[in-house]
Amino acid sequence: MIGEFKNVLLKKEDNIATITLNRPTALNALCNDLNDDMIEAINIIRQDLDIRVLIITGSEKAFAAGADIKEMMDSNLFEAERTSEKAHFINDTLESLPIPVIAAVNGPALGGGCELSLACDFRIAGENAMFGLPEVGIGVIPGAGGTQRLTKMIGAVKAKEMVMSGKMVKGREAYEIGLVTKCVADEEVMEEAVKYAKKLCQKPASALQFAKSAINYAVDNDINTGKRFEKALFSSCFSTEDQKEGMKAFTEKRRPEYSNK
Ligand code: HXC
Repeated sequence: MIGEFKNVLLKKEDNIATITLNRPTALNALCNDLNDDMIEAINIIRQDLDIRVLIITGSEKAFAAGADIKEMMDSNLFEAERTSEKAHFINDTLESLPIPVIAAVNGPALGGGCELSLACDFRIAGENAMFGLPEVGIGVIPGAGGTQRLTKMIGAVKAKEMVMSGKMVKGREAYEIGLVTKCVADEEVMEEAVKYAKKLCQKPASALQFAKSAINYAVDNDINTGKRFEKALFSSCFSTEDQKEGMKAFTEKRRPEYSNK
């Protein structure tokens, strides 16, 4: 364990960090304290250059049932804005981390919990995971990037169905509509996430980082600007040891040994 906060656990094994949401009495509802813990945990990860992949998970019972409704219910406009800002900050930070981030999801990933998973690069879900953005049903809308990320991920037709009708999707359907990367048996979620993380650890870190940036850029920009960005990143790859080793290993018909410097 490299960090033990009130509502979040942070461990590191090999080069993989795992943040476990740990507020079992409220199905990991994302209260203000939990969000503060997340910010601290992410800061530790940012400073530890040995960490190559981050996994975010909850418990077998729940990933996260959303922002804390009880804490939020009497918010005025300014407090609501601060809540939304903090959630956006966490999700934006995860999205722009220079390492891959995997959400390992069992049980409900609702509202802010779903939005947190959407900010990750990969979602590995159990058959009984439940993704949903039910905020309209309690008189609000998603406020942590959900309307934007979900729409770009699965299109406006399906996003409107989930956000406006409150339709929830289980793991298999989430996979079929392109919301999750992989759907596995509930009990295999964490094992699969670690397997996936280990596979990513074998790839050169700089190329992974550039690839993540380029794809994220595509989501937010027009194609011509994106192509220019890709060209710049592609040429930057040629200043890395990874490129030299990767291509040399290919020509020498051996496995590359990346230093990840
Ligand atoms: C506060 C919550 C909570 C939440 C669950 N709990 N979700 N507390 N905020 N979002 C608490 C319950 O009050 C209860 O506490 C305990 O967790 C167990 O929940 P139950 O409802 O008894 O469990 P169950 O019957 O199994 O139902 C599970 C559930 C349901 C379907 C996930 O809890 C639910 O619908 N939760 C709310 C989902 C939601 O609307 N999320 C969106 C929130 S708004 P007690 O003390 O009674 O035992 C949002 C906005 C994001 O996320 C934008 C932020 C900027």
